[in-house]
Amino acid sequence: MMKAGFPEDFLWGAASSAFQIEGGWDADGKGMTVADFNSFKRSDRQADSRTASDFYHHWKEDIALMKELGLKAYRFSISWARIIPDGDGEVNRKGIDFYSQVLDELLASGILPVVTLYHFDLPYALVEKYNGWADRRCVFAFERYAKICFEAFGDRVKWWLVHNEQNLMIRVDERMNISEPDAWKADKIRAQMDYHMFLAHALAVNACHEMVKDAGIAPAVSSTCTYPLTNHPQDVWAAKMNDWFKTNYCLDMHYYGEYPGYYMRYLKERDIVPVMEAGDETLLKSAKMDFIALNYYRTLCASYLPADREHPAGMRVYRGNEVDFDQYGYCRDEKNTNLKASEYGAQIDPMGLRIVLNDYYARYHLPLMVTENGLGTPDVLTEDGRVHDDYRIDYIRGHLEAMALAMEDGVHLMGYCPWSVMDLLSSHQGFRKRYGFIYVNREDMDLKDLKRIRKDSFYWYQNVIRTNGEKL
Ligand code: BG6
Repeated sequence: MMKAGFPEDFLWGAASSAFQIEGGWDADGKGMTVADFNSFKRSDRQADSRTASDFYHHWKEDIALMKELGLKAYRFSISWARIIPDGDGEVNRKGIDFYSQVLDELLASGILPVVTLYHFDLPYALVEKYNGWADRRCVFAFERYAKICFEAFGDRVKWWLVHNEQNLMIRVDERMNISEPDAWKADKIRAQMDYHMFLAHALAVNACHEMVKDAGIAPAVSSTCTYPLTNHPQDVWAAKMNDWFKTNYCLDMHYYGEYPGYYMRYLKERDIVPVMEAGDETLLKSAKMDFIALNYYRTLCASYLPADREHPAGMRVYRGNEVDFDQYGYCRDEKNTNLKASEYGAQIDPMGLRIVLNDYYARYHLPLMVTENGLGTPDVLTEDGRVHDDYRIDYIRGHLEAMALAMEDGVHLMGYCPWSVMDLLSSHQGFRKRYGFIYVNREDMDLKDLKRIRKDSFYWYQNVIRTNGEKL
């Protein structure tokens, strides 16, 4: 086996997000979020955010397990509605206290916190008041929330992530609370929301630099690596377009503070250019991210999809899932028959990770951190109380080897936070689909005892960390 060369200060981590792990959805004054609202719609058939993994009541025990695992970093998110229940009103002291004690415990355990400000869980009150990100007031509500977090936690948190997967979130109507049935109108709202999130990102980056000493702040993008279905030039172009429209425009906007030409062309062609105000451009250009956080699970494949009379250029269509759209005049999502897929359809491909790491590093020359990567499966608890998840070990090993190669290629990679530290609420499949190193003993409709059980992958990853990646 190849010998991986991880630097001594490599941040071996693991990840989670508030609505997926915490539970205590209305405990101690927390307000409802869009993530709660959506998960409650499925409460009759699968787990929701009410209890999730109940980290809210198990945090001490859970952090002890993270310490035992040997984590050097833990990526998690703060729930905006725990800090400000209605999004832009009074601050909830108990919310601040909750995260404060979590941070103290992490630091006492030698684990560096990597904190996401917003992971799919907009306070629902902002949807009721303003239709959420559609309204510019949401931008300033976010800026205020971010500043409250920097003030309260900036003495202990040096690694900050602004929005989790803005580029993917914006494509999922449910997450953005878009219920407009007309495709063009929905795209128009989406474009405005996306733009507002870019403004919010820029304000948070600048505030962080002003308020938190020695901080690093970044977006956490859902990375995309697309292969052409054939070597026909139009398919090659389509594969590029798929990456550019799903991810690269977002990174470029963060980096350069303006939409790349092809994206502006699309916004005009589709007649959905967002409303921009004087001063926005200066703000967007002033905010300089310090690194790039990327989530990586799979690769994609595309062929060229011509526009026609019924389907004008730029029109997007979702077939089969909510994130991988086809776009007329650009690209069509295809299956890659060279790759095996997970039970849930994600095409497993460590090489794709090496490609995106090289690609992003070559384009921006900023340090990178992998903030999500993992395999979602229905794990089985055996009668002797073990979980033999060798398939997860294989998956992570392959991706660690790809990261080691990317570093040999010259990429500056700071750390790895696989998804997820423990089983948590999958964003769409409840507790059927598990990602953790630690099994949480509950089923979708039966809370059982919520006992934490170390999976085989826990012991394997512990050894990887102990040997600094020498023993994969
Ligand atoms: C990422 C999200 O896109 O994918 C996580 O940031 C999510 O929140 C993860 O859980 C896996 O997706 P899913 O749908 O399997 O939970």
